[in-house]
Amino acid sequence: MTARFHNPVDTRFGWGSLQQLAAITQQHKVALVTFPEARGLGLVARIEELLGERLVYVIEDVQPNPDVAHLRDTYERFWADADDCSMVIAVGGGSAIDTAKALIVGTESGRFDELLALLATGKPFVPARSKQLIAAPTTAGTGSEVTPWATIWDSASLKKYSLHLDCTWPKVAIIDPQLMLTVPASVTVSTGLDALSHALESIWNVNANPISDTFAMAAIADILDCLPRLLRDLSSQELRTRMALAALKAGMAFSNTKTALAHSISYEMTLRHGLPHGIACSFTLPLVLGLAWGHDQERDQTLQRIFGSDLAKAQAQLRDLLHSVGVKTEFADYGVTAQDAEAIIQFALQGARGKNFIGCQAA
Ligand SMILES: NC(=O)c1ccc[n+]([C@@H]2O[C@H](COP(=O)([O-])OP(=O)(O)OC[C@H]3O[C@@H](n4cnc5c(N)ncnc54)[C@H](O)[C@@H]3O)[C@@H](O)[C@H]2O)c1
Repeated sequence: MTARFHNPVDTRFGWGSLQQLAAITQQHKVALVTFPEARGLGLVARIEELLGERLVYVIEDVQPNPDVAHLRDTYERFWADADDCSMVIAVGGGSAIDTAKALIVGTESGRFDELLALLATGKPFVPARSKQLIAAPTTAGTGSEVTPWATIWDSASLKKYSLHLDCTWPKVAIIDPQLMLTVPASVTVSTGLDALSHALESIWNVNANPISDTFAMAAIADILDCLPRLLRDLSSQELRTRMALAALKAGMAFSNTKTALAHSISYEMTLRHGLPHGIACSFTLPLVLGLAWGHDQERDQTLQRIFGSDLAKAQAQLRDLLHSVGVKTEFADYGVTAQDAEAIIQFALQGARGKNFIGCQAA
């Protein structure tokens, strides 16, 4: 077997590493994209202090799950008012980072609908102009700081778009676990489970290889051990750091494989049933593990190195973890009938991410 792994992001990790931002952005005019609570938490002041007059534009009203309804106006104001900045720094969870990824892709007209029309084709394109992205995650979950993807939601039309271009790889990722100390318990759970889902989805994936497996297995071991303990001690520097590293490893794993069936199912559950992303893509993990098992000897071996050789026990371990952090694991728990659940799974298997799933042909 031969393997190839490629990730171009210059990745900085460690407590206090945000301090490196000043050196990284030298010579650049910078726009900041961040979440509404960031100012109250002192984060905007911290960035202002680090960048001084190089910080020329601030967007601080990023909403969870960037939606076309809100992005349109932000995008057009950004290209009208901040065209002189060459770098965008996203400080926030996946919503801030994905918003920034959409912003840096400039259309000829500066109109958002031109970008949407390009996204709707589902084909790669070369943007008329773009800016460099620095991503500093404040949640330990999405891995968006080391992937080129952005999820753009259109909740009114029950649709989602996936943005992925060469320029949407962040140039630099700064993973500073100190920024995650203020993440509330519910978001700590949903983001931690998102990372667990990334790692597992990269294993039961047609694009998996021994290099992505190495990142994924390490991430899973850390999350299984760390997440329940972190919930009992949200202010622990050690546990925040371990979860940040686990989420980074999971991000590295799926940066090369993409996600699979659990994520494909999640899009329907978020759009139609309003589930937060991290819950939507993790409550089915025990089910999807069962569907993955037994299709590919090499994939089974990787899963068994984590969970042992007994499938029922492996599923129980995942179910127990989810229950221990307050997440229910059946479709019925979310008001979805058995018939609708089957339809959601079948639909998800036809999606681009569903087709990455190793059990896709058999299911
Ligand atoms: N691009 C990718 O590869 C990728 C992967 C997974 C998920 N996503 C996307 O990421 C989004 C979800 O991101 P998320 O799970 O990180 O949540 P989020 O960014 O939506 O943040 C969740 C909530 O936590 C708050 N918050 C964030 N950091 C905080 C902090 N340090 N202290 C206090 N509050 C804080 C936010 O304001 C928000 O209210 C979804 O849109 C999803 O589609 C993208």
